[in-house]
Amino acid sequence: MNSKLIKHAVINPDAPPESLEAKQPPVDNGTERYDTAPYFSAEHMRAEWSKLWTQSWLIAGARSDLKKQGDYFVFDIGDESILVTHTAEGIRAFYNVCSHRGCRLVHDERGNRNVFVCPFHSWSFENTGKLRRVFDEDTFRPDVIAHRPGLTEVACEEHAGLLFINMADSPEPLADAIGLPEGYLEAYNIDKMRVVRHVRSEWGSNWKVGVEAFYESYHLHTVHPETNGVMGDLNVQYDLYPRGASRMIVPLGQPSPRMKDQETVNEGLQMMLQDAGIDPASYTGSAADVRRDIQIAKRERAKRLGLDYSRLVDGQLSDSWATGIFPNVQIGCHPEAAFVMRFLPHETDPERFYYDTMTLIVPADDPNYTPPAWMGLPEGTDYSGAHRPDCEHYGIDEDANLGLVLGQDAALLPVVQKGMRSRGFKGQLWGEQEQRLRHFHVELQRWMNKE
Ligand code: FES
Ligand SMILES: [Fe+2]
Repeated sequence: MNSKLIKHAVINPDAPPESLEAKQPPVDNGTERYDTAPYFSAEHMRAEWSKLWTQSWLIAGARSDLKKQGDYFVFDIGDESILVTHTAEGIRAFYNVCSHRGCRLVHDERGNRNVFVCPFHSWSFENTGKLRRVFDEDTFRPDVIAHRPGLTEVACEEHAGLLFINMADSPEPLADAIGLPEGYLEAYNIDKMRVVRHVRSEWGSNWKVGVEAFYESYHLHTVHPETNGVMGDLNVQYDLYPRGASRMIVPLGQPSPRMKDQETVNEGLQMMLQDAGIDPASYTGSAADVRRDIQIAKRERAKRLGLDYSRLVDGQLSDSWATGIFPNVQIGCHPEAAFVMRFLPHETDPERFYYDTMTLIVPADDPNYTPPAWMGLPEGTDYSGAHRPDCEHYGIDEDANLGLVLGQDAALLPVVQKGMRSRGFKGQLWGEQEQRLRHFHVELQRWMNKE
């Protein structure tokens, strides 16, 4: 295999340099090998909590989950729980804790309420965080509650249909922290999408092992061999952006260059044609034509269905633009859907994390319009967007029904975690297909080295 091909894969060499598709200039992140202790040690876990999780912008949820005034959801991370509410004054976020004796205030994951009543002594709060009522107020000496203790606010900002929170005392503006070019996420109209599935499952590794596994396509040929027929794993374009952000463009609808047969329209390609509205039985092209024909078909279908693909280039119609936002998110960007995955630290165990995924799709009136089958949404999923499903929670030994590919990752990650513990392992050695991992670690070091 030609190593130059791997290093310099470019999806569209004709893309103008200012386009979102253009290959970004290389970033030299060195060749350093990093310490493995941060994958196991409780001390490092605490350091990450104080220096990273409580200081950086984190995706708390989808803006479309707070459509009506009074809508709220709770975002749990580590030991904290954040209440995000749609108030008369816009979207606000608070620590989910009563100011009286510290009882957790809200226990439902989502709902619609303008007033929150504490389950301990029934103090109540407006959804703007304002203290509304102290039960038996006349039994308090006035000095104790003279400051009318409301809920403690957390910074909250919206970007491209996603709500971010930040627990820092004076956080930088979200726009400065994202790192992606303007218009990048906006092009996908995530603000018009609706959550159709939300799963939070516990996995047996450090959260960074999770991020790393999803930031490269190097492992597809071994862990996910079924993708060989439909994913150009060696033609992936890797791009690094400021602030630890990165993306990989994975061409879909073409066989892996590792495959001998580049002609046959295999079963996987047939399924992709079908998903794009092309009848595979009467298809006359070869495997090399499938990706392009999918792009043409989707562009044409979008017009018919009134879907807005105006800001998407042809490559975005077929390919997965897997986009990483530091520290813990990857969004699989597709014209039909956004697959938002968050790697959330466990409360106490550095060798566990929560893999939290939300699938958002553009609702369409046409009942025949569904997200591609390979996205692995279970049968019976309601694509109308009319009903926001509850988050499904799965423990470490439960099958989260995430589909074949993600199931393969869930099984492998604990094996990697275990191996990394060995006295014989001296730290990860990353190749150019893993350049996003190094980029992530350089940014992580920057946060962890802050005083
Ligand atoms: S702790 Fe909430 S009312 Fe007492
Ligand atoms: Fe994987």
